[in-house]
Parts: sequence; structure tokens; C-alpha cells
Amino acid sequence: MTDRRLLFHLSDIHFGLEDDRALDWVKQEIAERRPDAVAITGDLTMRARKHEFAAAERWIHALDVPVTVEPGNHDLPGYHLPVRYLDPLARFEAFREVVEKRIELSGLALVPLNTNVPAQPRLNWSKGWVSRKALAACLQAIDELPAGTKVLVTVHHPLRETGTTGTALTHNGKKALDELARRNVLGVLSGHVHDPFDIMEQTAHGPVRMIGAGTLSQRLRSTPPSFNELSWDGTRLEVRARNLEHVRTPDMQIADVPEDAMPPREEGEPVAPVGNVPPTDPPVR
Ligand SMILES: [Fe+2]
Ligand SMILES: [Fe+2]
Repeated sequence: MTDRRLLFHLSDIHFGLEDDRALDWVKQEIAERRPDAVAITGDLTMRARKHEFAAAERWIHALDVPVTVEPGNHDLPGYHLPVRYLDPLARFEAFREVVEKRIELSGLALVPLNTNVPAQPRLNWSKGWVSRKALAACLQAIDELPAGTKVLVTVHHPLRETGTTGTALTHNGKKALDELARRNVLGVLSGHVHDPFDIMEQTAHGPVRMIGAGTLSQRLRSTPPSFNELSWDGTRLEVRARNLEHVRTPDMQIADVPEDAMPPREEGEPVAPVGNVPPTDPPVR
């Protein structure tokens, strides 16, 4: 009999444009409910600025529960190509210990899969890209778990690959889903879209559940600020999209991953947002 597990899945806090009221509420919920783990699936910051990371660090370090953080496209130094290549997570230095952290709770594990690369051979660098190295590391981590362990994979970009290469959301997303479908994966937890969802993606090896968390920032897409509360009883994984507006989970969740998984641009925001840098270097795969 597996112990009941409670997990909080947060995403897209975008410190710099965070929603303070929502964050205070989530912090209080974490203190009171004490989830077994908190997964934050990327876009911690708005522009990867130092003061935004400092705010993120203060907030995360105040949580007295295990935390794992995935980097998002907003968290990479946008215009510093050498830094993007040599140390893309440099700005996370104050809390590296939680970045891409694997969390093992008996019978259930959270395993990270990085969907960011330093450069892409397409104009929109805000989209996801699963490198061979990142996928191999994730699959190895899963395969090393004790037999029978159920897995939740944490990513920033949903592993949806649609249309042509130019419009694909996450390059190699299909390949990654195919591999995950062959393993004991309960679901893939993602962010980036800023609206929650809970859908089954079909692959050649069976379905994979894709669970997206909304945003805790002011960059709203079509739903109020929210986070996902996941409860696992050993048989069933229940997902609730918690929000301060008391909108029911089915009304919060969008039906599918949109192809333009980007929130509307803020007034005054540059046309090329962080993560969108014209490629000047050879493709990185
Ligand atoms: Fe975001
Ligand atoms: Fe993002």
C-alpha cells in the first residue's frame, strides 16, 4: 500500500511581474498543507535579472518542504551567448541545489527533463527543445529508480510537437513522449502556457498524461492565477487547479495545448521577448 502523497505544481511565477496576492496565498497553503514536494516548472523570472532571481531565492528558501525547479526560457540570459553556452544556469547560483533536482518519495519520484537549449536553428528561441543529452539523462534517471516506482517528469515546455519544424512547440517532444510512454510515467508536469490543462497525449507506445500548471504572475492568458494540487493515492492521480477566484478545475483547464503557447505580450514589451534571439551560431541539437 503506497502512502498518500500531496504535491504542489507551480509554474511561471515570473518574479519581476509576479502576483503578490497569489504568491502569499500559495506560501500560506504550503505552510499549512505541507505537501511532500513542490515542483516549479520554469519561468521563475521575467528577464533573468539578478534582482528577480534574488526575489525568487528568498521566496523558495522560505518554503520548508522539498522543492525542485526547472529552468524556463525566461530564466536564461537572453543576449549573452557565451553565458548561454558555458553556464546557462549561472543566475540560479544561489539556489542551484533545487534546480533540476530529482525528488524520491517512496514509490513516487519527480524526475527533471530540461527543455531549454542555448541556441536553436529557428527564429523563436522561446520554444522548447529536448536535446539528446537531456533526454538521455532523464531516461537514465528513470531507469535507475527502484522497480515499480511511478514517475512524474518535470519540464518547462509541454512536450507537444505539432505542425512543421518551424511551428513545433517543442522540438523532439514526440520522441521524448514516445520514450516516456514506455516507462512507469504517471504524467509530465509542465508550464509555459500560463493556463492549466490535463490531457492525454497518444503515442505509438501508449498514452502519456500531460499536466500543465497556470501562472502565478500578472501575465495572465485566459485564466486567473493558479497552481495545481496533485494527490496520489497509489492508484489514482488527482489534479486540481487551485485559484483564489474559486473557479472549478474543469472550467480552469484548457482543452488542448495551444500552438501559440505564449501569453499575450505586455504593453511596452519588446517585440522579441526574452529567449527570442536570432540564431548566430551553428545549430545545437
Ligand atoms: Fe511563462
Ligand atoms: Fe516559458
